[in-house]
Amino acid sequence: MDNELLARMDHYLDAQFGREDDVLKETRAEMAREKLPSIAVSAAEGRALQVLTALSGATRVLELGTLGGYSATCIARGLPPGGKIISLELDEHHAATARKNIARAGFSDTVDVRVGPALEGLAAIKAAGEPLFDMAFIDADKDNYPLYLEEVYPLVKKGGVILADNTMPRNMHAPNDGGIGKFNVAATNHPGLLCANFPMLRDDSIDALMVCIKVGD
Ligand SMILES: C[S@@+](CC[C@H](N)C(=O)[O-])C[C@H]1O[C@@H](n2cnc3c(N)ncnc32)[C@H](O)[C@@H]1O
Repeated sequence: MDNELLARMDHYLDAQFGREDDVLKETRAEMAREKLPSIAVSAAEGRALQVLTALSGATRVLELGTLGGYSATCIARGLPPGGKIISLELDEHHAATARKNIARAGFSDTVDVRVGPALEGLAAIKAAGEPLFDMAFIDADKDNYPLYLEEVYPLVKKGGVILADNTMPRNMHAPNDGGIGKFNVAATNHPGLLCANFPMLRDDSIDALMVCIKVGD
């Protein structure tokens, strides 16, 4: 499929299903002003995250990779009142921008942005014996996805949901190489997970969002 057609489809889906309000538009504008990379979920994928959160009935969500707080805002919008998100972010400047955006969106009491490598954040959550999560969204550095799956799995309740972004391998000549390929193999062979992968347009290319239910202990 040619790239121009894909870009048109992406634009259509964002305009028709994403329909960013002023808060989400301002979140993107602030990320641009703060010179954050333009790697947040698309408007349509953000809406998908909101719908999946609401569908799952989640009240406690774990996010890996906050960036400027765009996806956290979408997830927060799918939570019931009193819902909580812990979002792990390596970069101080990204986290500061996210906190500003999340405050403007009215979710300061909902989203707890924690700075540091996600693997350390996950170890701290485990060590503190924090309650299990109903849903996790993996969207940090791709090389660590297989490790993130191992560490996130025990932190999610049975019956809960594990989502992961960017799960279309880049190199289709060797799709099982690299963090994403290895993650896809591990997730689809995991006896405690039931996974589906939904293609998502990203500008003029095709990426994907993985959606798994934790069916095991
Ligand atoms: C794709 S962006 C996240 C986008 C965000 N979820 C959204 O859609 O709005 C990935 C983020 O992961 C962060 N990151 C990279 N390596 C990390 C690590 N080891 N631990 C935690 N965060 C990391 C990056 O700084 C970046 O902000």
